[in-house]
Amino acid sequence: MSQDPSCSGVFSGLELIELNDPSAVAEHVAALLLHERRRRPELPLGLATGRTMEPIYRALARQLSQLPFAEGERLRERWLSFNLDEYVGLRPEDPRTFRAVMTTKLVLPLGLDPERVRLPEGSAVDPDAEANRYRRELAAAGGVGLQVLGLGLNGHVGFNEPPCAADVRCRCVSLSASTRAANAAAFGGDPEAVPERAITLGLAEILAARSLLLVVTGAAKAGMLRWILQGPPTPELPASWLHRHPRVMVVADHAALGRGANG
Ligand code: GLP
Repeated sequence: MSQDPSCSGVFSGLELIELNDPSAVAEHVAALLLHERRRRPELPLGLATGRTMEPIYRALARQLSQLPFAEGERLRERWLSFNLDEYVGLRPEDPRTFRAVMTTKLVLPLGLDPERVRLPEGSAVDPDAEANRYRRELAAAGGVGLQVLGLGLNGHVGFNEPPCAADVRCRCVSLSASTRAANAAAFGGDPEAVPERAITLGLAEILAARSLLLVVTGAAKAGMLRWILQGPPTPELPASWLHRHPRVMVVADHAALGRGANG
């Protein structure tokens, strides 16, 4: 691991790794992702988009480039990942699709085959059918090995908006006003310009992953993260269902844990 955790512990079954800041979190998570690709190459990684993930993908590209050439090549060739979600209704060439984001932030910097970075097709004529197709595609690949998750300000994971049961599957969902506002930056700051719907893996697929890695940075998420860590699971906080999973690691910075930079 490139960074030693400054603090760690277990919160009612969730293993917590606390690090200084988003860049320490990014290095740590990137190292975990590379480790996972080496240890369990037969199962796909589960990936997310969002601001939390961007420094992680930068760190991942750098760490991958520092591997011996043959090892880096082997890792690229065997890469397989499935993203959590995608907006519905944007044109395929729209730079704001999560596919475009993954191309820019992951596929090109890492030199991956785009075919091996899977996402739901948000421009599909029938999004419900596409959600089913994506669910079956993931199942055929064996389900997710390690699933990386960001945390929505309202407690969502993927685009599983509250209230949300633990057994919902991959489907087309309506986005809440607060999520559209939180994601408006990529749409010129206008929440109304954010798509109203998305396809997301459900809690069923997320909880079926062999292990889960929830990544949270920044003071804005501190209140929500405290609720999630405390449990108990409730439909009002979709991320709280993670308590049902036996192998969950939470990697957070000081700010997300409500502590100042000096502790
Ligand atoms: C978004 C995505 C999630 C993401 C989360 C946090 O809406 N659907 O997959 O992890 O919300 O986003 P951010 O990291 O930008 O705060």
